[in-house]
Amino acid sequence: MWRWEEFLHARAQDAVTLGEGNTPLLPAPSLGLGDVWIKDESRNPTWSFKDRLASGALTMARHFGAKVIASSSSGNAGAAAAAYAAKAGIPCVVFTFMGSAGPLVLQMRAYGAMVVKVADKADRWRLQSLGVREFGWYPTSPFFGPVVGSNPYGMEGYKTIAFEIAEAFDWEPPDWCVLPVCYGDALYGMWKGFEELKALGWIDRVPRFVAAEVSGSLAAAMEGGDAMPPESPRNAPSIATSIGALQGTVQGLDVLRRSKGAAVTIGDDELRRWVVTLAAKEGIWPEASSAAPFAAIERLRAQGTIKPDERCVALMTAAGLKDPGPIEQALPEPPLVGGGLPELMAALKNSYGFHG
Ligand SMILES: Cc1ncc(COP(=O)(O)O)c(C=O)c1O
Repeated sequence: MWRWEEFLHARAQDAVTLGEGNTPLLPAPSLGLGDVWIKDESRNPTWSFKDRLASGALTMARHFGAKVIASSSSGNAGAAAAAYAAKAGIPCVVFTFMGSAGPLVLQMRAYGAMVVKVADKADRWRLQSLGVREFGWYPTSPFFGPVVGSNPYGMEGYKTIAFEIAEAFDWEPPDWCVLPVCYGDALYGMWKGFEELKALGWIDRVPRFVAAEVSGSLAAAMEGGDAMPPESPRNAPSIATSIGALQGTVQGLDVLRRSKGAAVTIGDDELRRWVVTLAAKEGIWPEASSAAPFAAIERLRAQGTIKPDERCVALMTAAGLKDPGPIEQALPEPPLVGGGLPELMAALKNSYGFHG
């Protein structure tokens, strides 16, 4: 990511880095969604796009001499903060809540963060803001509402996703970028990245952006013309816990409006179906939230908002191993086989419909 240092807020030699960025951009012809490419952010060091945010934020935390890092996170942001804090040698407190997916909390613990759980989600921000205000802890996540966005140096890191996509397409940007959205940090960062390239004359237009969300907050604001996304629990609770917040942000809404984009509200059945489809057809296993863009593209293609000849890039934000629940639920248990070939073929037929 730091090869783009001229566009960022620190020099590469001063960065807290684990080799994030430069992730593959893969065509996905088997999905039946037309010209769709997957920007596979699960190849980052902690297996999610949040590593770009953590690298941007921890670099400045070290620069400012931060003594403690603080993050409130249901998963990926906390895992990334923990890893980069470990690399920087700065202690890290992560506030998480009871419903967070097990492997994500394990990740935070593995990197040595001091993980604390709260029963009431609101307590995360209350406690984190006390730490920030009373002790000067350095926040990498939001810690008060309504959310304006995460650490601003962290969000700068997301610009590099846009740079990598533009470069991969030889400075001919895609028509649409479709992202799973919670606070809209990546949405804002990617949009800003394309805007900077346009200002430099490296590209001549900025893609339209789609927010694939579960709450319905941005969709409600887009429909109703609200200045502020409302609280909206349309699909709550959702299996996509990483993007489970009930309220979108002004920064996210602003990008959708400026780019003439759209917001699409995604339900659990679609998420499960796309997790399974992506893994089986493209060999890429997404976390439930990361399946949301594919459901959104399917819907927008069907209703004609995304035209048949238009190119889309879907941001695949995190790896499926972080939250294996959807696959465990959707697929059959492997059969126990013994004996010889007849028994094996019978088991393959019964469990998987395989006829040899
Ligand atoms: C896997 C995953 N995808 C998407 C998001 C949405 O992040 P944001 O909209 O804040 O960029 C998150 C976290 O919030 C996440 O963990």
